[in-house]
Amino acid sequence: MKTTKLIIVLIGIALFAWQCRDGLDDQNDCTTVSLSATPYEIVIPPFFPPMDIPADNPMTLEGIDLGRHLFWEVKLSEDNTLSCGNCHFPEHAFSDPNQFSLGTQGIAGTRQAMPLFNLGWAQDYFWDGRALTLEEQILEPVPNPIEMNIPWEDAILKLEDDALYPSKFDKAFGLGAITKEKAAKAIAQFLRTMVSANTKYDEFRLGLAELTPLEEMGLDLFIREGGNPEDGNGGQFGADCFHCHGFGNMQFTDYLPHNNGLDAEFEDLGYGGVSGNPLEMGLFKTPSLRNISFTAPYMHDGRFQTLEEVLDHYDSGGVASTTIDPFMKYTTGGLQLTDIDKLALTAFLNTLNDEEFLLNEDFSDPFE
Ligand code: HEC
Ligand code: HEC
Repeated sequence: MKTTKLIIVLIGIALFAWQCRDGLDDQNDCTTVSLSATPYEIVIPPFFPPMDIPADNPMTLEGIDLGRHLFWEVKLSEDNTLSCGNCHFPEHAFSDPNQFSLGTQGIAGTRQAMPLFNLGWAQDYFWDGRALTLEEQILEPVPNPIEMNIPWEDAILKLEDDALYPSKFDKAFGLGAITKEKAAKAIAQFLRTMVSANTKYDEFRLGLAELTPLEEMGLDLFIREGGNPEDGNGGQFGADCFHCHGFGNMQFTDYLPHNNGLDAEFEDLGYGGVSGNPLEMGLFKTPSLRNISFTAPYMHDGRFQTLEEVLDHYDSGGVASTTIDPFMKYTTGGLQLTDIDKLALTAFLNTLNDEEFLLNEDFSDPFE
């Protein structure tokens, strides 16, 4: 079985290399994979769905190693001060504890840096979903004036002059010029290996750990309909988190955009700002709740410092607006959670923390 898979991967790589031979490889979407690179098969955690890996970017050990180095490479910024990892900190599940990250020019953005894990399962990227693939997403921070602020061509010149990169690119992608597409593909391969699935909750699902009564109560609230049953809306005095943060898929997000009732009017239009669709104004990508204790502050603009504030927000039912999600209980007096309910929910959310992921040396700065 394993050998068959390996052969299929090798044939895929060979076909791909053949397609991209001579002259064709300067087309943006055609990057050669080195025939001598070692295929890497990602391990899908129990109960997770399969991961879609783009056919034109098969994972290899050499590609992942290059991606890790580039992720931590300050030469991808104008003044050699900022790497991806300087806004995406391992100890914060690769998010930023600052409300807004500072770019090389000391300019702050208007959105909170997102944590980076389990990205191989997402359908789009950024708070407003404006990138449809990881490869596409990664091209953005480098030239972005409020982030790394360097044209890709200049960053590539620096990589070409470096002692490390020419051979690393050759090993991953075969002989040829260093391109931004190859760099993005390598970083995407690295990001896809950043799987976080080692939590108390995962162990519980596997029958290897037990939840405390408080954690179990929190789980029950998480997956129960919210609101007062007397309102006639099917409420069960639950907390109703599962509708948007998923449950069965083990990701703790449905990866879809929603408006969770933060504002009556939208300063940041979210998905609507990209699509222009009035029905998407104020909708943002639903974040995973895995590793949630490490990723404060919360929401696209980092407005909440603590999980208590987040729970108070949901308890209130949120603020009415043109696009508020029907699953928010704003019309019916909110969730009406008790203090004990909130403690239980927090206890349950804490079972989604994966300390081992934060410390995983495969993801740490290779230059240290
Ligand atoms: C100056 C700080 C900063 C730097 C440097 C930076 N990022 Fe980010 N990153 C952010 C912010 C802020 C967001 C959210 C932006 C938005 O939604 O508009 C983000 C979002 C992302 C996302 C989307 C995650 C998701 O769940 O949709 C990925 C992936 C990502 N960054 C990877 C990278 C990579 C790779 C690099 C290096 C090439 C990098 N970032 C450099 C701040 C930064
Ligand atoms: C209607 C869909 C919906 C429901 C119901 C919902 N959420 Fe959310 N949640 C979202 C969206 C969308 C965001 C991001 C919103 C933004 O940043 O503008 C979010 C953000 C969060 C965040 C911040 C995550 C981060 O990384 O910043 C936490 C924590 C959270 N939700 C917890 C919960 C809990 C606990 C419940 C149940 C009490 C719940 N959510 C119910 C859609 C929902």
